[in-house]
Amino acid sequence: MSKPDEDDDCYTSIEDVDFFSEIHGRTFNIQNPTYLLPSDNDEIKRYTLFHRLIKFVLNGRIYTGPFKETLQFGMYRKVLDIGTGNGEWAIELADELLYVYVTGVDTAPIQYRFEIWDANVANMPYKDAYFDVIHARAIHTGIHNYPAFLSEIARMIRPGGLVLLIEPGMTQYAQDKPESEFTSATGPVGWFKLWETYRYCLSSAGIDPSIPEHLHCLLEATNQFEDIEYSEITIPIGFYPQNRRSLTIGELQWMAYDLLLPALRPMFLNCGLNKSRTDELIKNATVDLYHGNTIFELSSRLYIVNAKRKNI
Ligand SMILES: C[S@@+](CC[C@H](N)C(=O)[O-])C[C@H]1O[C@@H](n2cnc3c(N)ncnc32)[C@H](O)[C@@H]1O
Repeated sequence: MSKPDEDDDCYTSIEDVDFFSEIHGRTFNIQNPTYLLPSDNDEIKRYTLFHRLIKFVLNGRIYTGPFKETLQFGMYRKVLDIGTGNGEWAIELADELLYVYVTGVDTAPIQYRFEIWDANVANMPYKDAYFDVIHARAIHTGIHNYPAFLSEIARMIRPGGLVLLIEPGMTQYAQDKPESEFTSATGPVGWFKLWETYRYCLSSAGIDPSIPEHLHCLLEATNQFEDIEYSEITIPIGFYPQNRRSLTIGELQWMAYDLLLPALRPMFLNCGLNKSRTDELIKNATVDLYHGNTIFELSSRLYIVNAKRKNI
């Protein structure tokens, strides 16, 4: 894993910084005020469940599109994983493709082998056209200007290189219909109310919760990418799918959401909700998650986009 030049003014030694602080009973990375979820062991368990889920969705792979082809030639083939978390994706890729040099960056030193940068800064410390591939997965809730983030990605990828973006959607579904098609008297009300509040808190903090659904349009709008491939995948939540693969995905998503619900508590409190309203929202959503997943056939959507950096 590479390390920036330590003489560089922008480089911060992890010994110099207090990264973590306790907020409402959970540990947060206080270096990135944009990212409103904890950085602690329960969150790392959630990242691991999500990583496994993605592997089931992608039939055992951790990438899509012409990923290996893009890394076929060259002396030093370089991949950047932005918002690497505990680095499972980056480590697994480095184990699979031994000829590739993988760099993981995150604002939190969850995994000490990686580099620490906030992807919200205008210029990340990598040269223009430095990477062959850039991967950014489940990070949009920590990015306050996603179009600017995509421009920065475009700057760092070489012409002909690949970007791979994966984001879970923020709209929930029951019986394959989105929240908007239900009234407050029908459907899993507690579940939907929690997600509405989650989106409201993100918007209040300047994060656009609709980014996942618009990834392909946003990439197109940069005018820097071509061969954009896009997929929207239904992810069941819970134990109702009949087919074994879908059932496994449903179980993994259920477990990941079971961990997400309490992780949202500090965000809701910081967003101005009082304690009893916050606890009630989480309790009602938990009841729907536990007892309503089968009745309502809960599901969410996963958005995957890969595109080639134009040769300009
Ligand atoms: C939900 S986790 C996903 C981890 C990993 N990408 C995965 O898919 O398993 C989001 C990660 O993005 C990191 N993150 C959020 N905002 C960031 C930012 N602005 N710059 C760098 N990392 C960020 C968080 O610290 C966290 O580790």
